[in-house]
Amino acid sequence: MSQTPPIDRSEAARRSQTPYITSMAAYNAMCDEAARDYECFWARHARRLLHWHRPFTKVLDETRAPFYTWFEDGQLNASYNCLDRHMESGNGDKAAIIFEADDGAVTRITYGQLFLRVCRFANGLKALGLGKGDRVVIYMPMSIEAVVAMQACARIGATHSVVFAGFSAKSLHERLADVGAVALITADEQVRGGKVLPLKSIADEALAMDGCEAVKYSIVYRRTGGQVKWAEGRDRWMDDVAAGQPDACEAEPVGAEHPLFVLYTSGSTGKPKGVQHSTGGYLLWALMTMRWTFTARSDDTFWCTADIGWVTGHTYIAYGPLAAGVTQVMFEGVPTFPNAGRFWEMIQRHKVSIFYTAPTAIRSLIKAADADEEIHPKRYDLSSLRILGTVGEPISPDVWMWYFKNIGNGHCPIVDTFWQTETGGHVIAPMPGATPSVPGSCTLPLPGIMAAIVDETGNDVPNGHGGLLVIKRPWPSMIRTVWGDPERFAKSYFPEELGGRLYLAGDGAIRDKDTGHFTITGRIDDVLNVSGHRMGTMEIESALGSHPLVAEAAVVGRPDDTTGEAICAFVVLKRPRPIGDEAARLAGELRAWVGREIGPIAKPKEIRFADNLPKTRSGKIMRRLLRSMSKGEEIAQDISTLENPSIIEQLREST
Ligand code: WTA
Repeated sequence: MSQTPPIDRSEAARRSQTPYITSMAAYNAMCDEAARDYECFWARHARRLLHWHRPFTKVLDETRAPFYTWFEDGQLNASYNCLDRHMESGNGDKAAIIFEADDGAVTRITYGQLFLRVCRFANGLKALGLGKGDRVVIYMPMSIEAVVAMQACARIGATHSVVFAGFSAKSLHERLADVGAVALITADEQVRGGKVLPLKSIADEALAMDGCEAVKYSIVYRRTGGQVKWAEGRDRWMDDVAAGQPDACEAEPVGAEHPLFVLYTSGSTGKPKGVQHSTGGYLLWALMTMRWTFTARSDDTFWCTADIGWVTGHTYIAYGPLAAGVTQVMFEGVPTFPNAGRFWEMIQRHKVSIFYTAPTAIRSLIKAADADEEIHPKRYDLSSLRILGTVGEPISPDVWMWYFKNIGNGHCPIVDTFWQTETGGHVIAPMPGATPSVPGSCTLPLPGIMAAIVDETGNDVPNGHGGLLVIKRPWPSMIRTVWGDPERFAKSYFPEELGGRLYLAGDGAIRDKDTGHFTITGRIDDVLNVSGHRMGTMEIESALGSHPLVAEAAVVGRPDDTTGEAICAFVVLKRPRPIGDEAARLAGELRAWVGREIGPIAKPKEIRFADNLPKTRSGKIMRRLLRSMSKGEEIAQDISTLENPSIIEQLREST
């Protein structure tokens, strides 16, 4: 685990050209400074990096813990910090976004043009009566327009809630209702991998369900010009909303704690929770980690391949790169269209210098490159790269080494960044130039992040022993609350069992005996990670359970070579257990059902039918047993408490 990769140190140093932190000693000094005077440390960064309309005088307020606040009496605007500042420094002509469409068409937009489009659209939103405190849901494909929509909301002080455009009408509806949206911004259709998918019709379906009556406007970006139904009065074209609006729109100063956005994510129980982020602390983090982890400089071309529907697309597309003033590449399509060389071709075409993607994408591209010499990365000129990043799930050392050798040509540091929707940005990650990059480890916490590993009672465990990953002190970009459910926030993240003051990440981790480097071992709760997408087993179980034929369902994750984890469902029907063709047909029907209920990403890879589920005498489903079975393992667990042992044979047979 602590094996040092064969990095050519001089070349790595040139490529990481770190102006921010240049040695392990400097890293240690920053950690010491944070430990000595925690508030001063953050105040210094916040003052230096952000533009404040009104400077803050208070830094951290812990009096209402775990509802911490940062820079509370300060005022700022996120969009001002991402756009206006570059106008003022004379960078209006610099490319902000190089957008590549699914079919390869490239659109460049400068900071000046982006600024203008955000201002006009923000004025248009204001003309519709939207403003500070309103919630706007964004259900859009990857597009410059999606960034315009997010930035325009931030500009007028509206709180956005982006819903991944792969979610179903029902999932969209749940989020619209929960967040209390007054407007929805969507598109006529989206285009991915050569396929055209309807978006507005899904949005229409969601809006027709009970609970969305507060949504007054549905604003539509015309992506394809395809046919759409139109609700007069409610529906507007995005272009029409912006048309004729003034070019200038004063950025609305908001309090540092003002919710910039709410982003829904899965937990181990119940419905997805709306993670609420602040403006000040969040933006500080987005910008600071662009520098610390990516060592971003003004001449970089940055490309994060995430979708704006996930937190990575928020922090490292919509806010971080713009706040840092770099040029970024944004991509509409999928890594395998028109072939699996697309990423490498795009890095070559746009001379990307910092590339950030998910291990699941790398794994599938390794397979593709092995199968087809024509699209092997060695066929492309990747010499513009200087930093590589990964996020979303553990990256195994072999995949890390492939990435390092084949994409980074053996000299680009890899930053394996551990973070979560709730942390707002990277929390444990290498800092090129200081902390080393190590295969299979996200290495060390960023300065000021008091990450630790504890046992079930909250006591530190020694290095070399696994335990629960926690963060001991509040940090600026942390989740503020669960939208509309403060109790759930406190209970899920600051559990009483650990003393009520430790932030519980929900992941297991272990530190290397010698170096103290962290390795994340995976979720310790019922959250699955499929292709880097977070999903709750409960959500999938209740989607299956709502099918008229299903009596009961249990869902577990099992390791998968490509997707990291795969969803495996054990289902009991209200009729006798199906076998053969009938089982295959019903499994297909249930998969499609889950796709419609939640979205295609939640479809189980495997469905096994049984007459019953293995339960203890007290009626609890034995999930660990199901997990072993899904992996095809011998049953090692004690099954003496099992109420119905005969079920085991049946579940095994049904593979
Ligand atoms: C997992 C994505 C190992 C982890 C930014 C976490 C990781 C969940 C890593 C959050 C990493 C994220 N190594 N595991 N570098 N990064 N994870 O909220 O289980 O979609 O709790 O945020 O992804 O997923 P989320």
